[in-house]
Amino acid sequence: MHIQILGSAAGGGFPQWNCNCANCAGFRNGSVNALPRTQSSIALSDDGATWIICNASPDIRAQLHGFTPMQPGRAPRDTGIGAIVLMDSQIDHTAGLLSLREGCPLDVWCTDMVYEDLTTGFPLFNILEHWNGGLRRHRIELGRSFTIPACASLVFQPLTLHSSAPPYSPHRSKPHPGDNIGLLVEDQRSGGKLFYAPGLGEVDMALLRHMEDADCLLVDGTLWTDDEMQQRGVGTRTGREMGHLAQRGAGGMLEVLEHVPRPRKVLIHINNTNPILDEDSPERAELKRRGIEVAFDGMSITL
Ligand code: MLT
Ligand code: MN
Ligand code: ZN
Repeated sequence: MHIQILGSAAGGGFPQWNCNCANCAGFRNGSVNALPRTQSSIALSDDGATWIICNASPDIRAQLHGFTPMQPGRAPRDTGIGAIVLMDSQIDHTAGLLSLREGCPLDVWCTDMVYEDLTTGFPLFNILEHWNGGLRRHRIELGRSFTIPACASLVFQPLTLHSSAPPYSPHRSKPHPGDNIGLLVEDQRSGGKLFYAPGLGEVDMALLRHMEDADCLLVDGTLWTDDEMQQRGVGTRTGREMGHLAQRGAGGMLEVLEHVPRPRKVLIHINNTNPILDEDSPERAELKRRGIEVAFDGMSITL
């Protein structure tokens, strides 16, 4: 299985256009040693030619431009995108569908909850109907593995995660299973297994078992500390409120990852306030000591 990191940042990207936090300002003036990062998306493939995009980020145009296998090469109009799988209905994971309108119809896999949000509060499915049939919706059923014809060797197992629906969701105040999923993806030929969860608020025993079972974890790296947005003076919401488990602190992601010694561990969906973006920071050094990597745009992993 080929895994390509198209975008490794959380919503807003890094640097964020209107953010003057220590990281964003330091990146702009050259005092912080960090790579710029686009918003959250990965691509998976069993043959390196046809790809399943997990999430469609607002930065998708630049992401496709930066990754040759995704570009047209076989016909006057062409793409390496075989299908799209959505983890949730958040803007940073779905708004890129609008930029793909010229390629409709497109096959999109999502849960009922995500489909509801994207046909009501943020009606992408309805809008795109006006472009050559728009999005062909395929249902992700919780508890049931699925395959996608475009990459037939890959088996996708949806994992129900604890998180909250976006502000425009009709069930915003009442979280439902399926608002937010993770994926365990296995390549049936190589046996390689990926655990992907860019939004992970809580890790229970069942999830921990799935993590142990994987060869590589691509997990929520949004925040270093739960109150980081407040500390940096750029927001009021905590990681917990946003459905993101912070790395530091009791029961945090660093502790969780300590319990799963075997798989390769990579943090993804990193918020622009997170000190781990600074490659010279003590936080980054701590990750290195713990054998935890930080995803970057253009990173490739083969399982
Ligand atoms: C999140 O995962 O909480 C987001 O990155 C929010 C957003 O896109 O604004
Ligand atoms: Mn996000
Ligand atoms: Zn910032």
